[in-house]
Amino acid sequence: MYQEYFGLKKMPFSLAPDPAFLYLCRQYTEVISFMLYGIRERKGFLEITGEIGTGKTTLCRAVLNSLDPHTKSAYIFNSDLSEFELLKTIARDLGILGGETSKWDIINALNNFLLGQLEAGNNVVIIIDEAQNLKPEVLEQIRLLSNLETDQEKLLQIVLVGQPQLRAKLASPSLAQLRQRISIRYHLNPLSKGETEGYIEHRLRVAGSRGSVLFEGAAVDGIYAFSRGIPRMINVVGDKALLAAFVLERRRVTAKMVKAGIDEIEGRCTLDRKSLMALMK
Ligand SMILES: Nc1ncnc2c1ncn2[C@@H]1O[C@H](COP(=O)(O)OP(=O)(O)OP(=O)(O)O)[C@@H](O)[C@H]1O
Ligand SMILES: [Mg+2]
Repeated sequence: MYQEYFGLKKMPFSLAPDPAFLYLCRQYTEVISFMLYGIRERKGFLEITGEIGTGKTTLCRAVLNSLDPHTKSAYIFNSDLSEFELLKTIARDLGILGGETSKWDIINALNNFLLGQLEAGNNVVIIIDEAQNLKPEVLEQIRLLSNLETDQEKLLQIVLVGQPQLRAKLASPSLAQLRQRISIRYHLNPLSKGETEGYIEHRLRVAGSRGSVLFEGAAVDGIYAFSRGIPRMINVVGDKALLAAFVLERRRVTAKMVKAGIDEIEGRCTLDRKSLMALMK
């Protein structure tokens, strides 16, 4: 709605996990390099956790986009799978011919595929998003997959990505064998206030703003207080604040507009011109 008014090519605060918007403050640069290192160096299991909305799915997509052509990948984002469904999804994603009728057929096909890739000098990674929801028996199946290795090398790298409950789940005694194999762990934290400001500017720039709209310092303060630096929440309130500015025909987003956006999110007001004019007084 306001995209044209502010001369933007894209919506700056869309909730889609679009890696084109990735803001590389220190922790995201660090976690990407940890992930790429762990995959490249065949470290076996990696565990990436973060609170809801801190950018885990966006990160998975960014990493998948930056894998070299010698790394074959499968991305699992549906965690409500049985062991058999998981295996079928992995096989399909890796382009292993289907038609296998049993679990063991798929495991055999996967093993042959992995050995073939090793011979060809390739690496294979499975990235599992929302891993906090996986059933314990599915996690155990994933561990068994990691047994497909030669004496010297891990044939398969597995990245488990999930909310903090993932770590609690892996702490269960029945998953000790999996837990002990995790070689790299990283936890994503919310952004600091300074990073929140940088994040907002970055997303506006990627959306095509060349100073056509800006957030005042006090507006950023309001967004930070509400979002606590969680990227998804910054997007939710940033979008409403821009809508308020558009309705008022302004190009500077103020703290009052942010407050109006928050009030709308919480159902206390609507962002029509009359209500906004009253709030701006
Ligand atoms: N570093 C970042 N740079 C730019 N945008 C980001 C960043 N981190 C998160 N976002 C944005 O925040 C929103 C939420 O991100 P995402 O869906 O990746 O979070 P999540 O951690 O996977 O959430 P959930 O726990 O619900 O699965 C998306 O719009 C995403 O683009
Ligand atoms: Mg996600």
